[in-house]
Amino acid sequence: MPWTEKDFIFKDNHYPSNRLEITEEAPSNIALVKYWGKYGLQRPMNPSISFTLSQSKTITKAILTPLGKPANKVSFKFYLDNRHQPAFEPKIARFFDLIHRYTPFVFQYDWQIYSHNTFPHSSGIASSASGFAALAKLIMNLEKQINPYQNALYYLQKTSFLARLGSGSAARSISGPVMLWGEHPQIAGTSDLYATLPDFDLHPVFQNFKDSIVLVETGQKKVSSTAGHALMDQHPFKNIRIQQAFDNVIKMNQILKTGDISHFIDIVEAEALGLHAMMMTSRPNYILMQPGTLQIIHSLRQIRKEHNIPVCFTLDAGANVHVLYPEGEKNKLQKIFFDNLEHKIIFDYL
Ligand code: PMV
Repeated sequence: MPWTEKDFIFKDNHYPSNRLEITEEAPSNIALVKYWGKYGLQRPMNPSISFTLSQSKTITKAILTPLGKPANKVSFKFYLDNRHQPAFEPKIARFFDLIHRYTPFVFQYDWQIYSHNTFPHSSGIASSASGFAALAKLIMNLEKQINPYQNALYYLQKTSFLARLGSGSAARSISGPVMLWGEHPQIAGTSDLYATLPDFDLHPVFQNFKDSIVLVETGQKKVSSTAGHALMDQHPFKNIRIQQAFDNVIKMNQILKTGDISHFIDIVEAEALGLHAMMMTSRPNYILMQPGTLQIIHSLRQIRKEHNIPVCFTLDAGANVHVLYPEGEKNKLQKIFFDNLEHKIIFDYL
């Protein structure tokens, strides 16, 4: 039986009263079947499934100083690459507000949080998934020091549960190589509250996959994911999209098990275009793809056809293109594709 929200409420009231230093890291992830639209408190309208990008991590250290008596809100400061970043703090404050019910011990300390991403800063790559996942791991590391009696699966699921409250897709940045988030009636153990690991081994074809990101645009997104998710509430194609994602999760599960790379390509690209189609048909509508995005998509499809390389693309809520391919194709793709691009590319993201 999946855990319920109540199972994650922490009841112990003993806390380490010494100064603590905890470091944790969490990977980024790229959705193969996309989460788009939410309800309630950060619950997804549809299940999603992702590859864990284990080379692209957020590493976070927290220095915890006991306050003596608990505060009524969490006292913290956030630093990225050793520089204080007040701009990130409202989102983190909201995260602490949402999680303190489940981890009341966070009130007992002052938190100095130092974060670093292994992927380039300001590259247009979202770090909120790995960032909140690293923070959730840190908090669970502390919970485990207070209460080491739960089983490993409980800690994994509660970590994902907490991370989700920071940013939905962070729920999938806890473990790997694949994570599935969102309840699916045909997949046992799945939950809207946290992501789970599939109950099968990833087919070897996908075990050495690479994700290289072509940076078409860097900087702040024009429309935030939060605003995009909200537009799904009244979207004319909402029900069709939800049904499609439920179907695609079942298909993708099968593909990841059997290694059917040609259907993998079909679904991954259809999901990426479907996500952007939702944006382009919402009210108001908006377009995040840029001319460079389309140009790259067209040339990738041409290369796939002409050279018979199993390469495909996916998109997040932005203009940058994630290029997915088996490691063995890297040199060939370098010569016939990456070297001819004028854009900056981040290799070895996965
Ligand atoms: O986690 P959020 O709220 O930033 O939403 C991310 C949604 C997509 O990246 C577009 C899709 C996904 O499943 O990761």
